[in-house]
Amino acid sequence: MPHKILLLAGDGIGPEIVGATERLIVALRQDFGLSCEIEHALLGGVAVDQFGDSLPQQTLAMARSADAILLGAVGGPKWDSIERSIRPERGLLRLRSELDLYCNLRPAVLFPALAEASSLKPEIVAGLDIMIIRELTGGIYFGQPRGIERMEDGRRRGFNTLVYREDEIERIARSAFEIARKRSNRVCSVDKANVLEVSELWRDVVETVAGDYPDVALSHMYVDNAAMQLVREPKQFDVIVTTNMFGDILSDLASMLTGSIGMLPSASLAADGKGLFEPVHGSAPDIAGQDLANPLATFLSFSMMLRYTLNESALAERVELAVAHVLEAGVRTADLQGGGGKVGTQAMTDAVIAALAG
Ligand code: NAD
Ligand code: IPM
Ligand code: MN
Repeated sequence: MPHKILLLAGDGIGPEIVGATERLIVALRQDFGLSCEIEHALLGGVAVDQFGDSLPQQTLAMARSADAILLGAVGGPKWDSIERSIRPERGLLRLRSELDLYCNLRPAVLFPALAEASSLKPEIVAGLDIMIIRELTGGIYFGQPRGIERMEDGRRRGFNTLVYREDEIERIARSAFEIARKRSNRVCSVDKANVLEVSELWRDVVETVAGDYPDVALSHMYVDNAAMQLVREPKQFDVIVTTNMFGDILSDLASMLTGSIGMLPSASLAADGKGLFEPVHGSAPDIAGQDLANPLATFLSFSMMLRYTLNESALAERVELAVAHVLEAGVRTADLQGGGGKVGTQAMTDAVIAALAG
């Protein structure tokens, strides 16, 4: 049976980077034995424009029946002030929630050729390979009540709720320990237990789960310190497990260790291994439509799809080696410092496709 892959281009640079990845997928299908069917659907601002909803029914239905989903990015200034419940970002959150994609893997790996492209000194980041595991369907992103209301004195008040149930913490902690076992058996859980009750419970549940993994070393760190340590000495970390919002922030921070936000891929997985794969960056409206976007985070997200959901690890490796090869040859998009002359999205895609043959 061919794999059924759903492409959601989204907004801003989304169509450019997903279009580039579709060319990569077609090349893998033509020349390297990938068996897949490709479908397309609308998510985000484009879906609001066409259907009045950022996650239309038919997109959700197609997402449910696909083996795996690749997303570009959603959102942009055009939709920032429309009714909150139909905004592009809400559509993405609903998709994550509807498919129960609670386990978000955000690896920050430095390609050796990009040591000079990081904003940190090369010796601080050389060999960097950390895995941020972000809880993706709970916490303050989804907690009720939420809203903006007018108080009796006429002033407005905005509120969100940070809430985690034990079972939500337990399953993401288990994911982290399982993944650590395939790496170097270390987990650092990041929280704010010195201030927040939710974090106190988080720490307690992670400790309990750790009892089932005596071979994995568990440490805890407050999120403010973790942000500082990620910049001071990032290689002290292996697996980091944290809440939805802390993971959102720390993964953008980690992207700069690897050279650019345009390099960081992600996988959002459900318990059955099905998933949504997307770059960590957003829709970059400032550079959309100009052939400037770095497509590598999306290529690497697709390679995570090959590895984690489609069981095609040889093809995943082929994509990763092609990306490494192209970077070693000095090919760089504008967001990456160093290298030779800058290329656009399309030329970067041509170079990676040409490098697939090894
Ligand atoms: P952003 O990540 O889109 O852009 C931040 C900066 O990084 C910009 O200067 C942009 O040009 C640059 N950048 C991002 N990706 C790049 C790439 N592939 N190549 C080269 N440069 C790149 O973050 P933002 O500006 O805060 O958000 C823009 C919009 O994207 C907002 O509407 C936001 O809600 C949305 N967003 C969506 C997602 C998602 O769909 N998963 C993630 C983050 C932000
Ligand atoms: C991300 C994005 C999303 C998030 C937004 C667009 C909803 O920033 O995937 O990192 O905050 O989860
Ligand atoms: Mn983010």
